[in-house]
Amino acid sequence: MREVAIIGAGETKYGEHWDKSLRDLVVEAGLKAVEDANITADDVQAIFGGNMSAGSFVGQDHVGALIADFAGVADKKIPAMRIESACASGAAALHAGYMAIASGMYDIVLVGGVEKMTDLPGDMVTDILAGAADREWEVFLGATFPALAAMMARRYMHEFGMTKEQMALFPVIAHKHGALNPDAHFQREITVDAVLKAPMVADPLTIMNCSPVSDGSAAVVLTSADMARKYTDSPIKISASAFANEYISLHSRESLIRSVSTIEAGRKAYKMAKKEPKDIDLVEIHDAFSIIAIEGIEDLGFAKKGEAWKLAEEGQLNLDGSLPYNPSGGLKAKGHPVGATGVGQVVEIVKQLRNEAGKRQVDGAEVGLAHNVGGTMTSSIVHILEVM
Ligand code: COA
Repeated sequence: MREVAIIGAGETKYGEHWDKSLRDLVVEAGLKAVEDANITADDVQAIFGGNMSAGSFVGQDHVGALIADFAGVADKKIPAMRIESACASGAAALHAGYMAIASGMYDIVLVGGVEKMTDLPGDMVTDILAGAADREWEVFLGATFPALAAMMARRYMHEFGMTKEQMALFPVIAHKHGALNPDAHFQREITVDAVLKAPMVADPLTIMNCSPVSDGSAAVVLTSADMARKYTDSPIKISASAFANEYISLHSRESLIRSVSTIEAGRKAYKMAKKEPKDIDLVEIHDAFSIIAIEGIEDLGFAKKGEAWKLAEEGQLNLDGSLPYNPSGGLKAKGHPVGATGVGQVVEIVKQLRNEAGKRQVDGAEVGLAHNVGGTMTSSIVHILEVM
């Protein structure tokens, strides 16, 4: 297998884009990535587009072909496909792009992620997102996605005695970092009190424990590590791309407080990158709901089970802490356009490793980890990136 590098990265602002369509968003991010890579769209040999549900959100399927067309390369006859893995669609597309370069089949690949979610009323969005769970055994019985996450949170609080105040530290940190990111959906700080007093979505999760519904797109350009310096002085190596799945419905699992897929994806990724948790300088963790971030931090080996909140309380998750957490603002504050998120996490790490993250720059960042999850931690994808 060849080593793989990112030579270009770009993204749109995340948020409510009333004036932009799905295609506008993906073209904006794609062109930024292509320009950043010092190539033209004509150099791209294959396109992998992460997207969860454009068919339901905006009535547009066949997203791969749409991206190729509006990127101006329809006449090049290159392969272009949509990759779907619920909220992990973006990282799944990156995994596919990684394999395409590593195998030697293609030399330059564009990986994009996009979602346009805010055109529909909230109840329809909730129903579409519930498609990431088991429609017959969970959703038909009344569970929404936040309700399933709330069950995970309740079980965790029961097992470990974590309080709502302790859980609230995670969105507080995410918003503190998001306030420094001009591309974030929410650029304002919040307090623990504001999290606790916010409208309840599914007890114990208030609206402030949930990621928002966002529009946005992100893209990266990949090539082989040995070709990367032809295009840029600051290539970023993808040292690991690891993907694991488990049972789709919560009731089939041994545990609600431990994610088998995250543990396995993390294990594979650390082995592939020859790294340990202590080698990671910053993380972008999937915090669609506070409980998912908490389990992610623990299951990736950054804290003992039941103790992730201690890292938050001690300030270790701040930009100058031992584990800078979601410097972009994470899904909670940067936003969560589901198909784009996994690629956007990686765009943030690329900016950090190139020392281009502005006010939210993590000093001396050389190795970053991105953790993107589909469903109730059903699919987990971990990428480890490092300076070359
Ligand atoms: N955090 C902070 N503020 C939020 C927010 C969030 N998650 N979601 C909405 N808001 C704000 C809006 O900006 C708006 O503010 P404004 O009045 O100042 O403009 C206000 O709250 C009401 O927004 P609205 O869109 O009406 O909220 P809602 O009640 O319809 O939706 C949630 C709130 C939490 C239910 C919705 O964001 C949601 O479903 N989130 C989870 C998404 C999800 O499951 N993703 C996949 C996970 S893997």
